[in-house]
Amino acid sequence: MNATRQITEAELSRQREYESAVRRLFEARGERPAAMVDTFGCQQNVADGERLAGMLKNMGFAFTQDPREADVVLLNTCAVREHAEQRVFGNLGALTHTKRDNPAQIIALCGCMAQEPRVSERVKQSYPHVDLVFGPHALWKFPELLWKVYEKRGRVFAADDEPGTIAEGLPVERGKGVRAWVSIMYGCDNFCSYCIVPYVRGRERSRSPEAVEAEVRELVAAGYKDITLLGQNVNSYGRGTDCDFADLLARLDKIPGEYWIRFMSSHPRDASEKLFRTMAESEHAARQLHLPFQSGNNRILREMNRRYTREHYLSLIAAARSFMPGLPLTSDVIIGFPGETEAEAGDTISLAEEVGFHALFTFIYSPRPGTKAASMPDPVPREEKQRRFDKLLEVQNARSTALHAAYIGKTVRVLVDGLSGDSAHPLTARTEGNRLVRFAGDPALIGGFANVTITGNTTWSLYGEAAQPET
Ligand code: SAM
Ligand code: SF4
Ligand code: F3S
Repeated sequence: MNATRQITEAELSRQREYESAVRRLFEARGERPAAMVDTFGCQQNVADGERLAGMLKNMGFAFTQDPREADVVLLNTCAVREHAEQRVFGNLGALTHTKRDNPAQIIALCGCMAQEPRVSERVKQSYPHVDLVFGPHALWKFPELLWKVYEKRGRVFAADDEPGTIAEGLPVERGKGVRAWVSIMYGCDNFCSYCIVPYVRGRERSRSPEAVEAEVRELVAAGYKDITLLGQNVNSYGRGTDCDFADLLARLDKIPGEYWIRFMSSHPRDASEKLFRTMAESEHAARQLHLPFQSGNNRILREMNRRYTREHYLSLIAAARSFMPGLPLTSDVIIGFPGETEAEAGDTISLAEEVGFHALFTFIYSPRPGTKAASMPDPVPREEKQRRFDKLLEVQNARSTALHAAYIGKTVRVLVDGLSGDSAHPLTARTEGNRLVRFAGDPALIGGFANVTITGNTTWSLYGEAAQPET
C-alpha cells in the first residue's frame, strides 16, 4: 500500500522523557508555567490543538488565553485561504510587544502554514522573535522541539520532518463539554486543483479500526455524547484494507451508550449507497450529512479535479434521502474559481436551490501558491466575484431561513451543551441534524439529551423551550 509509518512506543516514550525534562526545568525554579494555544482552521486542527495541549499539560503548563501571561504561545495555523494566513502574520507581529515585555517567552508557529517552505522562510527572515516552527508532520515530537529551544536558547525550524506517520497514544486535553473530535485519518490524496491541504498534510493514511474504536469507547465511557470522526475525505477511510468507512461506522455503532456519531468531510466521489444504508440502519450515526459540492458546473468541477459531475452529486443526494427521508444537508462551495463565468457560477446557485441545504459554507476562491489553480488565468475582477457570491448568499439565506422555520411547533430531541448568554433562551443545544438551538430550560439539563419545542428561528438557528423531560 503506502509508506505510512507508525511512530513506535520507544519513540513516544522518548517524547515523554522530554516532557519530564521541560517540567523539571520550571519545577527547579519553583514556577508554574502557562501556555496559550491559539488554533485556526478546521476541526482537524482543533483536534491537533488538543494533542498539543495534552503534551503541554504533561510538561506542567496551565492554560491562558492572554498572550501577556503565557510562557509559551503556540499559533496552530491554517493555510487554506490567504485571509487565514494574513491573520496569523498579524498576530505574529502583535506578539513582538508581549515578547519585549517578557523576553523569556517562547513563540511557536505550528499547523498547516508552518509546513509551507515559503512561510517558514519568511518567518526565519522577518520574524526573529519566533523561536519554533514545526508542521503537522512533527506534531508528535513537540516536547523534544520545545526542549531544544529551552536547551539552546536558539531558534528551531522543524518543518521538513518525515511526512506520512501515524502516532497513537499522544496525550490529549479536550475542550470542555459533550462534544469530542476523533481524527480517523490524516492527509489527503485528492489534489483538488485549488487546495493546499495535500501539500501541507501529506499523503492520506488511516488509523486502524481498533485504535479508532478504542478511542471512541473511551470517550463514550467518559460521558462524551456527540463524537465527530474527522478526515479530509472520510469516505476513503481504510483504502486497500478490508474495513471501509461504512464498516468502521457499523463497528463503532456496536459500542453501547447514548451518543451520536457524526463525520466530516465526505467526498462525493467516494460516497456510497453502502454508507447511506449503514447510517440509516445505525443506532448512533446522527442523521445529518455534510457533503461538499464546491461547484454546480461540470466544467468547473473538472478544472477543480473533483472527479464527479453535478448529475452524480444529485444522484447521491437522492440516494441519501431515499434511505433517510428529511435528512438535513450541509455543504461547502467556492465561488470565483479561475475563469468561472457568470453562467457557471449560476449553476452553483441553481444546485444549491435544487438540493435545499440547511446551511452552506461559502468561500470566495483564494489562490494558494504551489497549487495548480494558482497558475490558471483568472480574469474576473474581485468585485464581480463578490457580486456573484452575494447572490449565492441571498438565495441560500432565504432557503436556510425557510428550512429552519419549518421546525416551529415541532418537539425535537437535542443534546444540551452549554449556556448561550441570552437571558430569554439561556441554554444551547444541537439537534441530531446539527442545528443550533437556544432554549429556555433548567441549566441542570446541560450535558444530557432533552426534548425542546421549537418556537422561533433565525437564518442559522432555532429557538425553543424545554418540553416534558425524557422518559
Ligand atoms: N476535504 C474537505 C472536502 O474536500 O470537502 C474540505 C477541506 S477544506 C479544509 C474546507 C473547504 O475550504 C473546502 O471544502 C473548500 O470549499 C474550501 N477551500 C479549500 N481551498 C480553498 C481555496 N483555495 N479558496 C477558497 N476556498 C477553499
Ligand atoms: Fe482539499 Fe480536495 Fe483534499 Fe478536500 S479533498 S482537503 S478540498 S484536496
Ligand atoms: Fe486549514 Fe490545514 Fe485544516 S489548511 S482547513 S487547518 S487541514
